Amino acid sequence: MSNPEFGSRVFDVDAIRADFPILQRKINGNDLVYLDNAATTQKPNQVIKSLVDYYEQTNANVHRGVHTLSIEATDGYELARTKVAKFINAPRPEEVIWTRNTSESLNLVAATWAEANVGEGDNIVITAMEHHSNIVPWQQLADKKGAELRYLPHNEEGLIELDSATGVIDYRTKIVAVTHMSNVLGTINPVAKLAERAHSVGAVILVDAAQSVPHMPVDVQALDADFLCFSAHKMLGPTGIGVLWGKYDLLEAMPPYMFGGDMILEVTYEDATWNDLPYKFEAGTPNIADAIATGAAVDYLTELGMDNVWQHEQELTDYAMEQILSLGSVRVLGPQNPALRGGVISFIHDTIHPHDLGTALDQQGIAIRTGHHCAMPLVRSFDVVAAARVSFYIYNTKSEVDAFVSGLCETEGYFSR
Ligand SMILES: Cc1ncc(COP(=O)(O)O)c(C=O)c1O
Repeated sequence: MSNPEFGSRVFDVDAIRADFPILQRKINGNDLVYLDNAATTQKPNQVIKSLVDYYEQTNANVHRGVHTLSIEATDGYELARTKVAKFINAPRPEEVIWTRNTSESLNLVAATWAEANVGEGDNIVITAMEHHSNIVPWQQLADKKGAELRYLPHNEEGLIELDSATGVIDYRTKIVAVTHMSNVLGTINPVAKLAERAHSVGAVILVDAAQSVPHMPVDVQALDADFLCFSAHKMLGPTGIGVLWGKYDLLEAMPPYMFGGDMILEVTYEDATWNDLPYKFEAGTPNIADAIATGAAVDYLTELGMDNVWQHEQELTDYAMEQILSLGSVRVLGPQNPALRGGVISFIHDTIHPHDLGTALDQQGIAIRTGHHCAMPLVRSFDVVAAARVSFYIYNTKSEVDAFVSGLCETEGYFSR
């Protein structure tokens, strides 16, 4: 019998690939090799079907109806919330708030919790490897409140040394907001240790899990996180829906983010009171279909087992790192040791501009990311304005890594002519 902890389905990449219709596409006459998974992942039939089924069979508004369709839509919407809660080991489903994406989840915490709790002279601590979504809301808030925005540095390898946190996180720190896994360096940050440090000075910790929840087992209780944010589109789900998880008592004490239908308990001509969690943070008609499809994505990953997902990506990353480094013509950003990183490899070629490389590889059907990866300060710290990035997911194979490396060599040949 299979162990449900490790997934109830055999991790068979060919069978997985058969679930993804887009992988049948030809791009410029070649088989698609999709290596841009940190930006967004492809969707399996199970998720696509869940969307179609919803609109064909169930579509109705939630929470307010007494008719069958509304009851079914509400049940599906709330069941998806329960699936997400279980996936991240949240103690209560009411702690899972549906948002539009990681960016909105981060903005929500900055505009509500931090608005109420950060004052003049306090500080907010983030790392120097954050995505813009976890920099700009804090810059804006610090500015507005007269607070200080501090950056936890990383070493040359792209690793945060906990000793450096001692001087940065202090008794005036109100919130530590860190990425679990860098979307540029691939670094996996010591979140549980940082949580310990934050809590020891009375601060809360927010985890940007946009690049971790899709790829590894994440347990909010084991991390002792206070808030955790991620996007469905990076984990097989649809665009336009994300999650903010928060500890119940913190969410309960926070003011609402948006006002309108569903988030109220009672409204008079003069005033209003707020609904219970999670509805206090879900004003207006929610993204019902995409929430239900996120549940289907969670089912898919749960069946595979997140330990297996992680192991598959580690093997691919290991394999790709070895091949890329052996070329001798590229500088890989972030830790060279595959055990310290996830399946994101950003690199700078000695002579080929990332955009030229991306365009040349596209001619061969290979999709990679090029640019600042929404982390301009970090990419610029390497004295470049852009880098190339490959990132892996459950359907990628070693032969796709081979195709990428030979495409890179071919492009080198072309530019050296
Ligand atoms: C680490 C990290 N944080 C936040 C985001 C923002 O996610 P979204 O665009 O879905 O809001 C991303 C997206 O790439 C990311 O990689």
